[in-house]
Amino acid sequence: MKIGIIGSGAMGSGIAQVAAQAGNSVKLYDANDVALAKALENIRTGLKKQAEKGKISLTEASNIAAKIKATERLEGLSDCDLVIEAIVEDLDIKKLVFAELEMYVSEECILATNTSSLSVTAIAAACNLPERVLGIHFFNPAPLMPLVEVIPALQTPQYFLEKSVQIIENWGKTVVVAKDTPGFIVNRIARPFYSEALRIYEEGIADFREIDAAMTEGGFRMGPFALMDLIGHDVNYAVTESVWRNTYFESRYKPSVTQKRLVEAGFYGKKTLRGFYDYTTLNYDNQLFIEKEKKEYVFNRILTMLINEAYDALQFNIATKQDIETAMTKGVNYPKGLLAWGEEIGLANIAQRMDALHDKYREERYRCAPILRGV
Ligand code: NAI
Repeated sequence: MKIGIIGSGAMGSGIAQVAAQAGNSVKLYDANDVALAKALENIRTGLKKQAEKGKISLTEASNIAAKIKATERLEGLSDCDLVIEAIVEDLDIKKLVFAELEMYVSEECILATNTSSLSVTAIAAACNLPERVLGIHFFNPAPLMPLVEVIPALQTPQYFLEKSVQIIENWGKTVVVAKDTPGFIVNRIARPFYSEALRIYEEGIADFREIDAAMTEGGFRMGPFALMDLIGHDVNYAVTESVWRNTYFESRYKPSVTQKRLVEAGFYGKKTLRGFYDYTTLNYDNQLFIEKEKKEYVFNRILTMLINEAYDALQFNIATKQDIETAMTKGVNYPKGLLAWGEEIGLANIAQRMDALHDKYREERYRCAPILRGV
C-alpha cells in the first residue's frame, strides 16, 4: 500500500517507520522543511541503532529507511491509499488540512487522524466524503508500543472500520476499537493514575516519591510522578484539561493546580531536566521508602479509582470488555486488566472503597460507577 503521513514530529515519524517496516511505501509531509529533514535523519539513525543492537540487519534497516520519502507539498500525497495525519493538536488546523487533502487524493483513499483528544466526528464533518475518515491513534513511541486505538467517526460505516482495523493489524499492531469520546479508552481510563496521585500528594498524605514507590512495588512499571515527568507535564496537563472540558467538566477529570504550576514554570519534567524529580544530576532523588500501612492506603486508593474508571467506561460502552483490558495492558503496560483486577478484589469491595472516599470527601469525583453494584 501507499501510505501518506502528515506531520513529521514524534508521532508522524514513528508511524512512518511502522508503516515502512510493514512493507509499505511511505510519503512523509510536514509544513516545516527543517522538521521534515530532521525526522528522516532521526528515523535513519534509529533504525541504524536497532541494527547495531542486532534487532534487524543493516540491510533491513536501510531498506526500511529507503521506503520513506519526504514530500514538501501536501499534493505529493495524491496517490496514497491511506493518509494518517499527525500534526499539531488543533481542531481548526486539522479541519483545514483534511479539507485541502481531499482535493488531491482519490475518493477511495482512507483519511485518518492520530488525534489524542479531539472529536474524530468533527474532523470527518470537515470533509466532502466524511465516511472515509476515522481515528487511528498510536502510542508514543509508535514503533515500540503495540497498541493502536481505532475510532470510527459517527459517519464511518462498519465495513470501512473493519477494513481499517485489518490494515493496522497487518502492520503487526494490536487494535482496539473505541467510541468517539474524549480520551477514547486509554487516555480516559488512565486519568486517575495521575489525578488521584496528585490529589494524595496535595493533601500531604504521602510524598510524591513515596507514592511512586507504592505504585511500582504494587506492580506498575513506573510511578505516576516519574511517568508524568517522562510524558511531560505540558502534554499530560493538556490531555487532562481536554478530557475535563470535553466531558462538560466531569469532576473526576478536574486538572490539578499543582501540575498547572509546574507547566507555568516550564518544569515539564525529564525534557527540561526538572519536573517533580530533578534530572540535573545523574543520581537524582529516587523513590523513597514507604511504610507498609501508608503504601497500602496509597496503592489501594489509586487502584480503586482506576478500576472504578474502567467500569465506568464499560457502563458507557466506550469499548468492549476485552478491548478495555487490552488497551490498559498494551497501551500503558498496566500489570493486569483493570476489570479482571476489580473482579479479583471483588466488585462489592471496590464499591465499598468508593463509598468510603465519597463519605469522607462528599465530592462527586468519588461517586461509584453504578455497574459495580450490578446496576
Ligand atoms: P509534534 O509537535 O512532535 O509534531 C507535529 C508536527 O506537525 C511538526 O513537525 C509540525 O511542523 C507539523 N505541523 C504542524 N502543523 C502542520 C500543518 N498544518 N501541516 C503540516 N504539518 C504541520 O507533535 P506529536 O507529538 O507528534 O503529535 C502529533 C499528533 O499526534 C497530535 O494530534 C497529538 O495529539 C497526537 N498524539 C501525540 C502523542 C504523543 O505522545 N506525543 C501520542 C498520541 C497521539
